[in-house]
Amino acid sequence: MYNITLIKGDGIGPEISDSVVKIIEATNLKINWDVQSAGADVAEIEGVPLPQRVIDSIKKNKVALKAPVTTPIGKGFRSVNVQLRRELDLYANLRPCKNIAGIKTPFDNVDLVVVRENTEDLYAGIEEKISDDEAHGIKLITRKSSTRIVEWAFEYALKNNRKKVTAVTKANICKLTDGLFLECAREVAKKYEGKIEYNEVLVDALCMQLVQNPSKFDVLVLPNLYGDIVSDLTAGLIGGLGVAQGANIGLDCAVFEPVHGSAPDIKGQNLANPTALLLCAVEMLKHLGEVEVANRIEKALYSVLSEGKIKTRDLGGTSTTDEFTDAIIAKL
Ligand code: NAI
Repeated sequence: MYNITLIKGDGIGPEISDSVVKIIEATNLKINWDVQSAGADVAEIEGVPLPQRVIDSIKKNKVALKAPVTTPIGKGFRSVNVQLRRELDLYANLRPCKNIAGIKTPFDNVDLVVVRENTEDLYAGIEEKISDDEAHGIKLITRKSSTRIVEWAFEYALKNNRKKVTAVTKANICKLTDGLFLECAREVAKKYEGKIEYNEVLVDALCMQLVQNPSKFDVLVLPNLYGDIVSDLTAGLIGGLGVAQGANIGLDCAVFEPVHGSAPDIKGQNLANPTALLLCAVEMLKHLGEVEVANRIEKALYSVLSEGKIKTRDLGGTSTTDEFTDAIIAKL
């Protein structure tokens, strides 16, 4: 019996969470889901969108599965997601991106991994209103965080049989901040010489090259904001946000969550694709050592996707979330 924190989030979060819980239940794996709510509704009742009980639950269980939580745009409370990552020091955001059989895209050779620094950069939220006409934001980059994320990326590359790590910055313009990130990346890369290839690219050039020839890239390591933007782009290379998984990993805890947000435009309509969250759950089960169950779920999911008869709307189909969920369970 595993104790796992489950944050169902809002928007499509509860729908996809229920789908994933149902699929895992169908494998007979025993999980005690410690369900913790967070977000705007919670803020109204408890005064804060991320109550301490959520943090405590993850610290106790060490592992969480998290669906997206809405962040008010341009006003309101700070992102629950950003706060959670900082509070738990989940410094590595891992976003693998690989073609899935049955999902047609302009490319059939995408197999790359985005490693995003998860605690600093413009996401640190250090902003100041100077006047009604001027606002400032601080891009926070430190040697400690840059070095550890690049080390994490190289270690990931070694353990997962990857060949190359590419450091992505805008160090030609942000000479001190991205310059420091790059300096750290070069320092770390020296330790892996002869084992893992290393190169560098500017983030704007990377975007162009990704949409022309994504197979050139293997492991990308980026400061927080570039990582956020580029991982949505790479999700688009393999079929969109509905299938793009992710994980936030720290020294003590890991929170598995998809790349996508709460998709308010399709909330409550039984249209959401649970694939991304399901793939997060698969990675979570592997992380817990439940490799056999994880592989069974993955096989059932890929089998439904490759047959292509039951597909959610984001993948060009007409099936509902429930129909897709039931099809996976039938395969199991
Ligand atoms: P989004 O990722 O929620 O949606 C972008 C587009 O992708 C929408 O058209 C949506 O319908 C579609 N989409 C996303 N996930 C899908 C799925 N599983 N199945 C089918 N279609 C899917 O991005 P958006 O609209 O920019 O953000 C909405 C909210 O989510 C914002 O408040 C944002 O701050 C929050 N957000 C939360 C994240 C998290 O909790 N980790 C991550 C990203 C955004």
